[in-house]
Amino acid sequence: MKLTGPFAQIVTLAQLPLRGKLTDDQLEIIKNGGILTEDGKIVEVGNYEELKTKLLENGNAPNEESRLEFISDTQIAVPAFTDSHTHIVFGGNRANDFAMRNSGKTYLEIAESGGGIWSSVQHTRNASVEELLKTTLERINFLLSQGITTIEIKSGYGLDLENELKMLRTIQKAQSLTKATLVATCLSAHLKPRDFEGTSKEYLDYILTEILPKVKEENLAKRVDIFIEKSAFQPEESKAFLFKARNLGFEITVHADQFTPGSSRIAVEVGAKSADHLEATIDEDIEYLAKSETVATALPGASLGLGEKFTPARKILDKGGILAIASDWNPGSAPMGNLITQASILATFEKLSTAEVLAGITFRSAFALNLEDRGKLEKGKRADFVTFKTDNFQNILYQQGSLKAESVYIEGEKI
Ligand code: NIG
Ligand code: FE
Repeated sequence: MKLTGPFAQIVTLAQLPLRGKLTDDQLEIIKNGGILTEDGKIVEVGNYEELKTKLLENGNAPNEESRLEFISDTQIAVPAFTDSHTHIVFGGNRANDFAMRNSGKTYLEIAESGGGIWSSVQHTRNASVEELLKTTLERINFLLSQGITTIEIKSGYGLDLENELKMLRTIQKAQSLTKATLVATCLSAHLKPRDFEGTSKEYLDYILTEILPKVKEENLAKRVDIFIEKSAFQPEESKAFLFKARNLGFEITVHADQFTPGSSRIAVEVGAKSADHLEATIDEDIEYLAKSETVATALPGASLGLGEKFTPARKILDKGGILAIASDWNPGSAPMGNLITQASILATFEKLSTAEVLAGITFRSAFALNLEDRGKLEKGKRADFVTFKTDNFQNILYQQGSLKAESVYIEGEKI
């Protein structure tokens, strides 16, 4: 067993419910706290001195079985973060798209003039396996440095069997080289590729019959995503596709209501684990989503990258929904990759409590990935936590990402 501490504060999030609004007085803050871990799991979180006495059993010296990891300066600890929506396997970049948007061109105009998702597809197809792996690991390390130890990563810039598998195999290879938990999602239904000869319905069938069986066979992903939007896939064909993907045994997540409302309903109807984006969701659909088991994922990085409005996070929480917040890190709409900055900015615009934001990037986003073993510092959970050099947890969001994580622990060990 190992005791890490003392911490000026430990924010456990242990008492918080999975859904609905939260106030900061619901937070359990342990002062002068310690975290007792064994075999990668939390044994107990509590008063440091009491845990120390317990560990050393009446004055015995620390030994191999009972170790002390002493924190000599003032730090706080919180559960490590889960980023439940990223697209960090990609080649090239879209700096020119960003500049064009800011010069007045729309997302669609840019896509039509050779930018957009299709340009990332071409760069990703042209990238070597080594290059993709290298840049993906660099991005994983950047997320880890922020205290994000669980990362969802989508395919979707390959858009044919060979290149979708190349992306998903890159994630699988990256998993063997990082301590972070990676959760792969097959987003072959990101866009109908320009070189596919056939209708979008035929492309969706191609995914179902050619890509997903291979994904399953190689155990490359357990989740399937689709971009339902005027410029991508239409509601009815998408719904049929998602039911079929579900019948193949995949969990479902949806890029929903980014510019046009309606698709969050489909996400709920097909029993999706999450509906992500929701910038354009209408009130009636917010209510429908908030009553469901489907997690509503806000992606403030996409709002900031595109200059679009934020996901109605406040309304979702007030209606009792499960709100997660993720970075959507991708080369097009969300190039930043700094989740804490984004979540903090979302909080200022949507009026979210610290508890709501912390829940949204920990156990609620982990729930969106079906990982209920993390995101709270309580007995039995994974000992993934992050420390900051401060005496007040409020500084994490207050400093809008400029207070950097001091140490990141995965399964009890500092990485
Ligand atoms: O989540 N909306 C669709 N997909 C991505 C953007 C992908 C891109 O522009 O490359 C998103 O915002
Ligand atoms: Fe996305």
